[in-house]
Amino acid sequence: MSTETEAAIAPEIDLSAIEEIIEPYLGKKEMVIPVLQKVQEHFGFLPRPAMEEVSRLMRIPLSRLYGVATFYAQFKMKPRGRYIIRVCKGTACHIQGSPKIADRIEETLGLQSGETTDDLRFTLEEVACIGACALAPVIMINDEPHGRLTPDKIKDILDSYE
Ligand code: FES
Repeated sequence: MSTETEAAIAPEIDLSAIEEIIEPYLGKKEMVIPVLQKVQEHFGFLPRPAMEEVSRLMRIPLSRLYGVATFYAQFKMKPRGRYIIRVCKGTACHIQGSPKIADRIEETLGLQSGETTDDLRFTLEEVACIGACALAPVIMINDEPHGRLTPDKIKDILDSYE
C-alpha cells in the first residue's frame, strides 16, 4: 500500500459517525478495545483522523490509543482491499507448492504479503493452516476457498473478483 493511496483516501474519511460510535462509551476509558473495534468495523481500518477524534472525545492520549491498536493484530492501520487473499503457509500446503502460488499472486498483483493494491481491490496475507489440507495448496479469497491450485490458475481466479 503506497503512501499516495493513503493520502488519496484521507479526505474521503467522514468522521461524523465517530460521535455516535463513542456515545455509549463516553467516560469509560477502559473500553478502548471495543471502541476501536467499532471504529474499524465502520471504516475497515483505523484511519489517523478517526483515531484523533476518538482521542479527543474520550480524552485518551493519542499515543495510548496507538499503543493499544498496534499491540493487537486484529487492528489494521491501513486500508484493506475489498477482497482479502489469504495464502495458506501450513505444512501440507507448503509441501504441495504454496510458495509458488504466493509468488504468482505477488507477481500478478505487484505486491507483497501484507500489502494492498492501490485500487483497494486486493489485500494479500499469509496465514497458518486453514483446515482444508485435503485441498492443498489452498488460498481463501474472503470466505471462498480455492484449492488444488497451480500457479497457472491464479490469473483466472483473480480476474473473477471485480
Ligand atoms: S496446511 Fe493449508 S489448509 Fe492445512
